Amino acid sequence: AIESGVAQKVITDWETYAIELDKRLGLDNQLMRVLGAKARRNPKRLVFAEADNIKILKSAQIAYDERIAYPILLGDEKAIRQMALDNSIDIDDMPIIDPRNDEYEEKRQQFGELYFKKRQRKGVNQYEATKMMKDRTYFGCMMVETGDADAVISGLTRNYADAIRPALQVIGMEEGVKKIAGMYMLLTKRGPLFLADTTVNLNPTAEELADITLLAAKEVRSFNLVPRIAMLSYSNFGSSDTPEARLVARAKDIVKQKDPTIIIDGEIQPNIAFNQEILRDNYPFSELVDQEVNTLIFPNLAAGNIAYNLMKEIGGADAVGPILLGLKKPVHVLQLGSSVRSITNMALIAVIDAQLKCQNANQDPAK
Ligand code: ACO
Repeated sequence: AIESGVAQKVITDWETYAIELDKRLGLDNQLMRVLGAKARRNPKRLVFAEADNIKILKSAQIAYDERIAYPILLGDEKAIRQMALDNSIDIDDMPIIDPRNDEYEEKRQQFGELYFKKRQRKGVNQYEATKMMKDRTYFGCMMVETGDADAVISGLTRNYADAIRPALQVIGMEEGVKKIAGMYMLLTKRGPLFLADTTVNLNPTAEELADITLLAAKEVRSFNLVPRIAMLSYSNFGSSDTPEARLVARAKDIVKQKDPTIIIDGEIQPNIAFNQEILRDNYPFSELVDQEVNTLIFPNLAAGNIAYNLMKEIGGADAVGPILLGLKKPVHVLQLGSSVRSITNMALIAVIDAQLKCQNANQDPAK
Protein backbone atom coordinates (compact mmCIF):
# COMPACT_ATOMS: atom_id res chain seq x y z
CA ALA A 1 0.00 0.00 0.00
CA ILE A 2 2.88 2.33 0.84
CA GLU A 3 4.47 1.56 -2.49
CA SER A 4 1.62 2.61 -4.76
CA GLY A 5 0.52 5.58 -2.65
CA VAL A 6 3.96 7.11 -2.48
CA ALA A 7 4.81 6.29 -6.07
CA GLN A 8 1.83 8.35 -7.21
CA LYS A 9 2.66 11.18 -4.87
CA VAL A 10 6.26 11.35 -5.99
CA ILE A 11 5.12 12.39 -9.44
CA THR A 12 3.97 15.77 -8.17
CA ASP A 13 6.96 16.92 -6.15
CA TRP A 14 9.90 15.49 -4.31
CA GLU A 15 9.37 17.44 -1.13
CA THR A 16 5.77 16.28 -0.82
CA TYR A 17 6.92 12.75 -1.54
CA ALA A 18 9.52 12.78 1.22
CA ILE A 19 7.07 14.23 3.76
CA GLU A 20 4.39 11.75 2.70
CA LEU A 21 6.85 8.90 3.02
CA ASP A 22 7.80 10.01 6.54
CA LYS A 23 4.16 10.22 7.54
CA ARG A 24 3.21 6.85 6.15
CA LEU A 25 6.14 5.08 7.73
CA GLY A 26 5.99 7.12 10.93
CA LEU A 27 9.52 8.38 10.34
CA ASP A 28 11.35 11.63 10.27
CA ASN A 29 13.69 11.10 7.36
CA GLN A 30 14.98 14.54 6.66
CA LEU A 31 17.73 12.81 4.74
CA MET A 32 15.76 12.14 1.55
CA ARG A 33 14.60 15.73 1.50
CA VAL A 34 18.12 17.01 1.95
CA LEU A 35 19.38 14.70 -0.79
CA GLY A 36 16.60 15.83 -3.16
CA ALA A 37 17.58 19.46 -2.61
CA LYS A 38 21.26 18.63 -3.06
CA ALA A 39 20.64 16.86 -6.39
CA ARG A 40 18.48 19.73 -7.63
CA ARG A 41 21.25 22.24 -7.06
CA ASN A 42 23.39 20.59 -9.74
CA PRO A 43 21.44 18.06 -11.86
CA LYS A 44 23.46 15.66 -13.99
CA ARG A 45 23.07 13.89 -17.33
CA LEU A 46 21.77 10.51 -16.31
CA VAL A 47 21.51 7.56 -18.70
CA PHE A 48 18.51 5.27 -18.17
CA ALA A 49 19.73 2.15 -19.95
CA GLU A 50 16.39 0.34 -20.14
CA ALA A 51 14.12 3.19 -21.16
CA ASP A 52 11.69 0.95 -23.04
CA ASN A 53 10.55 -0.32 -19.65
CA ILE A 54 7.57 1.61 -18.30
CA LYS A 55 8.93 1.80 -14.74
CA ILE A 56 12.18 3.26 -16.01
CA LEU A 57 10.37 5.74 -18.25
CA LYS A 58 8.21 6.91 -15.35
CA SER A 59 11.27 7.35 -13.16
CA ALA A 60 13.00 9.34 -15.90
CA GLN A 61 9.97 11.60 -16.07
CA ILE A 62 9.96 12.09 -12.28
CA ALA A 63 13.70 12.78 -12.22
CA TYR A 64 13.24 15.35 -15.00
CA ASP A 65 10.12 16.96 -13.52
CA GLU A 66 11.79 17.17 -10.14
CA ARG A 67 14.86 18.76 -11.78
CA ILE A 68 17.09 16.08 -10.29
CA ALA A 69 18.56 14.93 -13.62
CA TYR A 70 18.67 15.41 -17.37
CA PRO A 71 17.63 11.94 -18.53
CA ILE A 72 19.14 10.27 -21.59
CA LEU A 73 17.04 7.34 -22.72
CA LEU A 74 18.56 4.21 -24.25
CA GLY A 75 16.45 1.78 -26.24
CA ASP A 76 14.27 1.37 -29.31
CA GLU A 77 13.12 4.88 -30.17
CA LYS A 78 9.79 3.86 -31.67
CA ALA A 79 8.89 1.68 -28.69
CA ILE A 80 9.90 4.38 -26.20
CA ARG A 81 7.89 7.07 -28.00
CA GLN A 82 4.83 4.82 -28.18
CA MET A 83 5.10 3.92 -24.50
CA ALA A 84 5.44 7.59 -23.58
CA LEU A 85 2.37 8.42 -25.66
CA ASP A 86 0.30 5.60 -24.18
CA ASN A 87 1.17 6.68 -20.65
CA SER A 88 1.09 10.47 -21.14
CA ILE A 89 4.77 10.83 -20.31
CA ASP A 90 6.41 13.92 -21.75
CA ILE A 91 9.83 12.97 -23.10
CA ASP A 92 10.25 15.86 -25.53
CA ASP A 93 13.37 17.13 -23.76
CA MET A 94 14.99 13.73 -23.32
CA PRO A 95 17.46 12.51 -25.95
CA ILE A 96 16.80 8.95 -27.12
CA ILE A 97 19.67 6.77 -28.27
CA ASP A 98 19.27 3.32 -29.72
CA PRO A 99 22.76 1.77 -29.66
CA ARG A 100 21.61 -0.82 -32.24
CA ASN A 101 20.64 1.81 -34.76
CA ASP A 102 22.88 2.42 -37.84
CA GLU A 103 22.92 6.07 -36.87
CA TYR A 104 25.23 5.13 -33.95
CA GLU A 105 27.64 2.95 -35.91
CA GLU A 106 30.43 5.48 -35.56
CA LYS A 107 29.81 5.73 -31.82
CA ARG A 108 29.87 1.93 -31.55
CA GLN A 109 33.20 1.90 -33.38
CA GLN A 110 34.65 4.53 -31.06
CA PHE A 111 33.39 2.81 -27.93
CA GLY A 112 34.39 -0.60 -29.29
CA GLU A 113 37.96 0.54 -29.86
CA LEU A 114 38.19 1.85 -26.33
CA TYR A 115 36.67 -1.30 -24.90
CA PHE A 116 39.08 -3.42 -26.95
CA LYS A 117 42.01 -1.46 -25.49
CA LYS A 118 40.74 -2.18 -22.00
CA ARG A 119 39.98 -5.87 -22.59
CA GLN A 120 42.41 -7.00 -25.34
CA ARG A 121 44.38 -9.08 -22.85
CA LYS A 122 41.19 -10.54 -21.41
CA GLY A 123 40.27 -12.56 -24.46
CA VAL A 124 38.19 -9.93 -26.29
CA ASN A 125 38.84 -9.19 -29.97
CA GLN A 126 38.13 -5.96 -31.85
CA TYR A 127 35.11 -7.36 -33.70
CA GLU A 128 33.49 -8.62 -30.50
CA ALA A 129 34.25 -5.38 -28.70
CA THR A 130 32.40 -3.30 -31.30
CA LYS A 131 29.52 -5.76 -31.39
CA MET A 132 29.16 -5.60 -27.61
CA MET A 133 28.44 -1.90 -27.86
CA LYS A 134 24.98 -2.77 -29.16
CA ASP A 135 24.30 -3.85 -25.59
CA ARG A 136 22.74 -0.94 -23.74
CA THR A 137 24.50 -1.62 -20.43
CA TYR A 138 27.92 -1.54 -22.12
CA PHE A 139 26.95 1.46 -24.27
CA GLY A 140 25.64 3.33 -21.20
CA CYS A 141 28.79 2.61 -19.19
CA MET A 142 30.90 3.70 -22.13
CA MET A 143 28.96 6.99 -22.36
CA VAL A 144 29.92 7.70 -18.75
CA GLU A 145 33.50 6.54 -19.28
CA THR A 146 33.97 8.90 -22.24
CA GLY A 147 32.14 11.86 -20.69
CA ASP A 148 29.07 11.70 -22.99
CA ALA A 149 27.03 11.36 -19.78
CA ASP A 150 27.60 11.80 -16.07
CA ALA A 151 25.99 8.66 -14.63
CA VAL A 152 24.09 5.56 -15.65
CA ILE A 153 21.49 3.35 -14.04
CA SER A 154 20.71 -0.07 -15.47
CA GLY A 155 19.99 -3.63 -14.50
CA LEU A 156 16.24 -3.60 -13.92
CA THR A 157 15.69 -6.45 -16.32
CA ARG A 158 18.93 -8.37 -15.81
CA ASN A 159 20.52 -10.64 -13.32
CA TYR A 160 22.51 -8.45 -10.91
CA ALA A 161 25.86 -10.12 -11.52
CA ASP A 162 25.49 -9.75 -15.31
CA ALA A 163 24.61 -6.09 -14.90
CA ILE A 164 27.64 -5.21 -12.76
CA ARG A 165 30.23 -6.91 -14.96
CA PRO A 166 30.05 -4.19 -17.67
CA ALA A 167 30.62 -1.57 -14.95
CA LEU A 168 33.66 -3.45 -13.66
CA GLN A 169 35.04 -3.97 -17.15
CA VAL A 170 34.36 -0.51 -18.59
CA ILE A 171 34.59 1.87 -15.64
CA GLY A 172 36.77 0.01 -13.15
CA MET A 173 37.57 0.97 -9.62
CA GLU A 174 38.52 4.17 -7.88
CA GLU A 175 42.22 4.55 -7.20
CA GLY A 176 43.28 2.43 -4.23
CA VAL A 177 40.11 0.30 -4.23
CA LYS A 178 40.62 -3.45 -4.67
CA LYS A 179 37.00 -4.67 -4.57
CA ILE A 180 33.73 -2.89 -5.17
CA ALA A 181 30.86 -3.55 -2.77
CA GLY A 182 27.15 -2.86 -2.43
CA MET A 183 25.32 -0.91 0.24
CA TYR A 184 21.70 -0.33 1.14
CA MET A 185 20.38 2.68 2.99
CA LEU A 186 17.38 1.69 5.07
CA LEU A 187 15.06 4.43 6.21
CA THR A 188 13.95 3.21 9.61
CA LYS A 189 12.13 4.65 12.60
CA ARG A 190 15.47 5.31 14.27
CA GLY A 191 16.86 7.15 11.25
CA PRO A 192 18.91 6.03 8.25
CA LEU A 193 20.78 2.78 8.65
CA PHE A 194 23.51 1.73 6.22
CA LEU A 195 24.17 -1.94 5.49
CA ALA A 196 27.15 -3.42 3.60
CA ASP A 197 28.11 -5.55 1.79
CA THR A 198 24.63 -6.55 0.73
CA THR A 199 25.18 -7.33 -2.95
CA VAL A 200 28.67 -8.16 -4.25
CA ASN A 201 31.37 -10.05 -2.30
CA LEU A 202 30.48 -13.56 -1.27
CA ASN A 203 33.04 -14.37 1.43
CA PRO A 204 35.43 -11.49 2.04
CA THR A 205 38.74 -11.97 3.81
CA ALA A 206 39.51 -9.78 6.85
CA GLU A 207 41.42 -7.36 4.61
CA GLU A 208 38.56 -7.24 2.12
CA LEU A 209 36.01 -6.76 4.90
CA ALA A 210 38.09 -3.87 6.23
CA ASP A 211 38.14 -2.30 2.75
CA ILE A 212 34.36 -2.73 2.43
CA THR A 213 33.96 -1.02 5.81
CA LEU A 214 36.10 1.93 4.76
CA LEU A 215 34.17 2.28 1.50
CA ALA A 216 30.87 2.23 3.39
CA ALA A 217 32.17 4.79 5.89
CA LYS A 218 33.20 7.09 3.06
CA GLU A 219 29.75 6.84 1.49
CA VAL A 220 27.99 7.53 4.80
CA ARG A 221 30.15 10.63 5.23
CA SER A 222 29.15 11.78 1.74
CA PHE A 223 25.60 12.05 3.12
CA ASN A 224 26.97 14.38 5.82
CA LEU A 225 26.59 11.74 8.53
CA VAL A 226 29.20 10.40 10.94
CA PRO A 227 29.50 6.63 10.50
CA ARG A 228 29.12 4.67 13.73
CA ILE A 229 29.98 1.17 12.74
CA ALA A 230 29.12 -2.24 14.15
CA MET A 231 31.06 -5.15 12.66
CA LEU A 232 28.45 -7.86 12.94
CA SER A 233 28.82 -11.52 13.81
CA TYR A 234 27.16 -14.17 15.94
CA SER A 235 29.72 -13.49 18.67
CA ASN A 236 30.60 -10.58 20.99
CA PHE A 237 34.22 -9.57 21.50
CA GLY A 238 35.63 -13.08 21.48
CA SER A 239 32.69 -14.90 23.10
CA SER A 240 32.84 -17.50 20.30
CA ASP A 241 36.42 -18.30 19.49
CA THR A 242 35.75 -19.39 15.91
CA PRO A 243 37.48 -18.47 12.64
CA GLU A 244 34.45 -16.54 11.35
CA ALA A 245 34.21 -14.38 14.47
CA ARG A 246 37.97 -13.84 14.59
CA LEU A 247 37.94 -12.71 10.96
CA VAL A 248 35.47 -9.93 11.80
CA ALA A 249 37.48 -8.79 14.84
CA ARG A 250 40.62 -8.75 12.68
CA ALA A 251 38.82 -6.66 10.03
CA LYS A 252 37.87 -4.16 12.75
CA ASP A 253 41.53 -3.92 13.80
CA ILE A 254 42.63 -3.27 10.22
CA VAL A 255 40.03 -0.51 9.81
CA LYS A 256 41.18 1.07 13.05
CA GLN A 257 44.80 0.95 11.92
CA LYS A 258 43.92 2.65 8.66
CA ASP A 259 41.60 5.22 10.22
CA PRO A 260 42.19 5.61 13.98
CA THR A 261 39.45 8.25 14.34
CA ILE A 262 36.65 6.07 13.02
CA ILE A 263 33.92 4.98 15.48
CA ILE A 264 33.81 1.22 15.12
CA ASP A 265 33.64 -1.96 17.16
CA GLY A 266 33.12 -5.67 16.85
CA GLU A 267 32.75 -8.44 16.41
CA ILE A 268 29.33 -7.88 17.89
CA GLN A 269 25.76 -9.16 17.55
CA PRO A 270 23.22 -6.63 16.27
CA ASN A 271 20.95 -6.95 19.31
CA ILE A 272 23.88 -5.91 21.52
CA ALA A 273 25.04 -3.14 19.19
CA PHE A 274 21.59 -1.54 19.43
CA ASN A 275 21.08 -2.09 23.15
CA GLN A 276 22.97 0.50 25.17
CA GLU A 277 21.99 -1.04 28.51
CA ILE A 278 23.43 -4.46 27.75
CA LEU A 279 26.42 -2.87 26.09
CA ARG A 280 27.20 -0.63 29.08
CA ASP A 281 26.65 -3.40 31.64
CA ASN A 282 28.58 -6.12 29.87
CA TYR A 283 30.99 -4.41 27.49
CA PRO A 284 31.78 -0.99 29.04
CA PHE A 285 35.08 -0.93 27.12
CA SER A 286 33.34 -0.88 23.74
CA GLU A 287 33.63 2.14 21.47
CA LEU A 288 29.95 1.78 20.74
CA VAL A 289 28.90 2.68 24.30
CA ASP A 290 26.87 5.91 24.05
CA GLN A 291 27.00 5.78 20.24
CA GLU A 292 23.99 5.35 18.00
CA VAL A 293 25.08 2.77 15.49
CA ASN A 294 24.10 3.74 11.94
CA THR A 295 26.31 1.45 9.86
CA LEU A 296 26.22 -2.32 9.89
CA ILE A 297 28.94 -4.39 8.26
CA PHE A 298 28.13 -8.05 7.63
CA PRO A 299 30.64 -10.88 7.64
CA ASN A 300 29.51 -12.21 4.26
CA LEU A 301 27.07 -11.66 1.41
CA ALA A 302 24.52 -14.18 2.65
CA ALA A 303 24.14 -12.41 6.00
CA GLY A 304 24.01 -8.90 4.49
CA ASN A 305 21.61 -9.76 1.71
CA ILE A 306 19.24 -11.69 3.95
CA ALA A 307 19.30 -8.97 6.64
CA TYR A 308 18.35 -6.09 4.34
CA ASN A 309 15.60 -8.10 2.70
CA LEU A 310 14.16 -9.12 6.08
CA MET A 311 14.23 -5.55 7.34
CA LYS A 312 12.53 -4.39 4.16
CA GLU A 313 9.85 -7.07 4.02
CA ILE A 314 9.12 -7.71 7.69
CA GLY A 315 10.55 -4.68 9.46
CA GLY A 316 8.81 -2.21 7.14
CA ALA A 317 12.00 -0.24 6.43
CA ASP A 318 12.17 1.65 3.16
CA ALA A 319 15.27 0.55 1.25
CA VAL A 320 17.33 2.78 -1.01
CA GLY A 321 19.89 0.91 -3.07
CA PRO A 322 21.85 -1.06 -3.90
CA ILE A 323 24.42 1.75 -3.94
CA LEU A 324 27.61 0.52 -5.63
CA LEU A 325 30.74 1.52 -3.72
CA GLY A 326 34.23 1.87 -5.12
CA LEU A 327 33.62 2.42 -8.83
CA LYS A 328 35.59 5.21 -10.48
CA LYS A 329 32.49 6.75 -12.03
CA PRO A 330 28.80 6.68 -11.14
CA VAL A 331 27.23 3.48 -12.38
CA HIS A 332 24.36 2.09 -10.36
CA VAL A 333 22.77 -1.25 -10.91
CA LEU A 334 19.14 -1.70 -10.01
CA GLN A 335 17.75 -4.75 -8.35
CA LEU A 336 15.77 -6.91 -10.76
CA GLY A 337 12.15 -5.70 -10.82
CA SER A 338 12.67 -2.53 -8.71
CA SER A 339 9.66 -0.24 -8.22
CA VAL A 340 9.32 3.23 -9.73
CA ARG A 341 10.08 4.70 -6.33
CA SER A 342 13.26 2.63 -5.90
CA ILE A 343 14.44 3.56 -9.39
CA THR A 344 13.80 7.25 -8.73
CA ASN A 345 15.68 7.02 -5.44
CA MET A 346 18.58 5.41 -7.29
CA ALA A 347 18.48 8.22 -9.87
CA LEU A 348 18.87 10.64 -6.99
CA ILE A 349 21.79 8.68 -5.52
CA ALA A 350 23.44 8.47 -8.96
CA VAL A 351 23.22 12.26 -9.42
CA ILE A 352 24.69 12.93 -5.98
CA ASP A 353 27.43 10.39 -6.70
CA ALA A 354 28.14 12.18 -10.00
CA GLN A 355 28.32 15.55 -8.24
CA LEU A 356 30.85 14.13 -5.81
CA LYS A 357 32.94 12.29 -8.38
CA CYS A 358 33.04 15.28 -10.77
CA GLN A 359 34.18 17.40 -7.86
CA ASN A 360 36.85 14.86 -6.93
CA ALA A 361 38.07 14.68 -10.49
CA ASN A 362 38.12 18.49 -10.39
CA GLN A 363 36.22 18.68 -13.61
CA ASP A 364 32.61 18.66 -14.57
CA PRO A 365 31.99 16.63 -17.75
CA ALA A 366 28.62 18.34 -18.10
CA LYS A 367 30.45 21.46 -19.15
N1 ACO B 1 35.25 -5.73 -7.15
C1 ACO B 1 35.97 -5.39 -8.22
N2 ACO B 1 36.22 -6.20 -9.24
C2 ACO B 1 35.71 -7.43 -9.17
C3 ACO B 1 34.96 -7.88 -8.10
C4 ACO B 1 34.73 -6.96 -7.05
N3 ACO B 1 34.03 -7.27 -5.96
N4 ACO B 1 34.60 -9.14 -8.32
C5 ACO B 1 35.11 -9.48 -9.52
N5 ACO B 1 35.78 -8.46 -10.02
C6 ACO B 1 36.46 -8.37 -11.29
C7 ACO B 1 37.19 -9.61 -11.67
O1 ACO B 1 38.48 -9.58 -11.11
C8 ACO B 1 37.18 -9.52 -13.16
O2 ACO B 1 38.16 -8.64 -13.59
P1 ACO B 1 38.90 -8.93 -14.98
O3 ACO B 1 37.89 -9.47 -15.92
O4 ACO B 1 39.42 -7.59 -15.36
O5 ACO B 1 39.96 -9.92 -14.67
C9 ACO B 1 35.85 -8.85 -13.51
O6 ACO B 1 35.46 -8.20 -12.29
C10 ACO B 1 34.78 -9.80 -13.94
O7 ACO B 1 35.03 -10.98 -13.31
P2 ACO B 1 34.15 -12.27 -13.46
O8 ACO B 1 35.05 -13.44 -13.17
O9 ACO B 1 33.35 -12.27 -14.69
O10 ACO B 1 33.22 -12.01 -12.32
P3 ACO B 1 33.03 -12.88 -11.07
O11 ACO B 1 32.55 -14.20 -11.47
O12 ACO B 1 34.17 -12.73 -10.13
O13 ACO B 1 31.79 -12.12 -10.51
C11 ACO B 1 30.51 -10.68 -9.36
C12 ACO B 1 31.86 -10.86 -9.99
C13 ACO B 1 29.48 -10.69 -10.42
C14 ACO B 1 30.49 -9.35 -8.69
C15 ACO B 1 30.35 -11.82 -8.30
O14 ACO B 1 31.09 -11.48 -7.18
C16 ACO B 1 28.94 -12.10 -7.91
O15 ACO B 1 28.23 -12.81 -8.61
N6 ACO B 1 28.50 -11.57 -6.74
C17 ACO B 1 27.18 -11.84 -6.20
C18 ACO B 1 26.11 -11.09 -6.90
C19 ACO B 1 24.81 -11.44 -6.31
O16 ACO B 1 24.27 -12.48 -6.60
N7 ACO B 1 24.29 -10.55 -5.40
C20 ACO B 1 23.15 -10.80 -4.59
C21 ACO B 1 21.84 -10.48 -5.18
S1 ACO B 1 21.72 -8.89 -5.85
C22 ACO B 1 20.64 -7.94 -4.92
O17 ACO B 1 20.17 -8.29 -3.89
C23 ACO B 1 20.34 -6.57 -5.47
